[in-house]
Amino acid sequence: MTVTDARSAPAAAVAPPRTCTFDVADWTILARGWYAVARVEDVGAAPVAATLLDVPLVVYRAGSGIVVADDLCPHRGVPLTMGTGDGTGIACAYHGLRFGADGACVGIPAHPAAKIPERMHLRPYPAVVRYGLVWTCLDRSAVDAVPPMPGWDEDGFQRVTCPPFDVAAFAGRQVEGFLDVAHFGFVHPGTFGDPGNPEVPPYNPVVTADGFTVDYWSTVANYPHGAGLRAPDGYQWLRRFALHLPFTATLVVHFPDGGRLCIMNAATPVSARRTRMFAPIAKDFATDQPAGEIFDFNLRVFEEDRRIVEVQKPENLPLDPRIEVNIAADRSSVAYRRGLKARGLSHFFTA
Ligand code: FES
Ligand SMILES: [Fe+2]
Repeated sequence: MTVTDARSAPAAAVAPPRTCTFDVADWTILARGWYAVARVEDVGAAPVAATLLDVPLVVYRAGSGIVVADDLCPHRGVPLTMGTGDGTGIACAYHGLRFGADGACVGIPAHPAAKIPERMHLRPYPAVVRYGLVWTCLDRSAVDAVPPMPGWDEDGFQRVTCPPFDVAAFAGRQVEGFLDVAHFGFVHPGTFGDPGNPEVPPYNPVVTADGFTVDYWSTVANYPHGAGLRAPDGYQWLRRFALHLPFTATLVVHFPDGGRLCIMNAATPVSARRTRMFAPIAKDFATDQPAGEIFDFNLRVFEEDRRIVEVQKPENLPLDPRIEVNIAADRSSVAYRRGLKARGLSHFFTA
């Protein structure tokens, strides 16, 4: 069997793993989504481990391509991430079977001349590289639906992809925090928030095919504290959010001098209680700023959010509006929960 045959073989129904921490019906819906599993720059010669929706994955480089597959050797079930790699493929730690482009088994050291059994090939998941990230979808029949990111493909923008950030909380809570506009002064006083400016002016999310967009205008500045920057008095900052269900959101901050800062919050549900957050950033000002400086500031902001998101109860996101109490400032949160509910997500989220 050729590699192409392996990839075009009929896809088995997507099934949750034995260790699934989600409601099974919800897992099946979530498995249709596209999620980031690694930064491209972190995928070198050695195989890289990732977990998506409780499914352990191996991510490895095979020449010009990147392969995402179950972290399980088809021979005797050893995790492939225990093995080694050389940039053209990986070798299993137990009997040295080699896997290359498209997950094809390309060598069995014990029987170098023997025909390779068809079932020895890995069955890779789709893999797409975008925004410095490797994206995948557990539904092998899925077409590419990696969410769009403003700024990233535009001329004149600096592009960086923050190191992954782990949060011991459910992805839905983490994403809702990213969309929240009432917490800046309380959670982020150490980075950009203004405790003296807590009021949230009215705003209205607009539903889209895969989520919603919202323009949020306020006088809360987005300058890092200590940078010595100040907006003209009364300047109305525009923050344009776009939510792409289930767990990706983008934010474009419009600065007084016309600059734009674009941040993607790509929350990967590792399990029902763990999230790995990836954050590509694109901006068209101070484009020679060292990447490390951008990472440091944003990691401090993420840390401030983590303190809150990791202690929220219930741990899941309540889609039943009777469970938590809403205020007008929660319009984005309400739109988010409605969107998740409209996708058929139910029991797990309301638990
Ligand atoms: S278990 Fe992987 S080569 Fe035998
Ligand atoms: Fe925040």
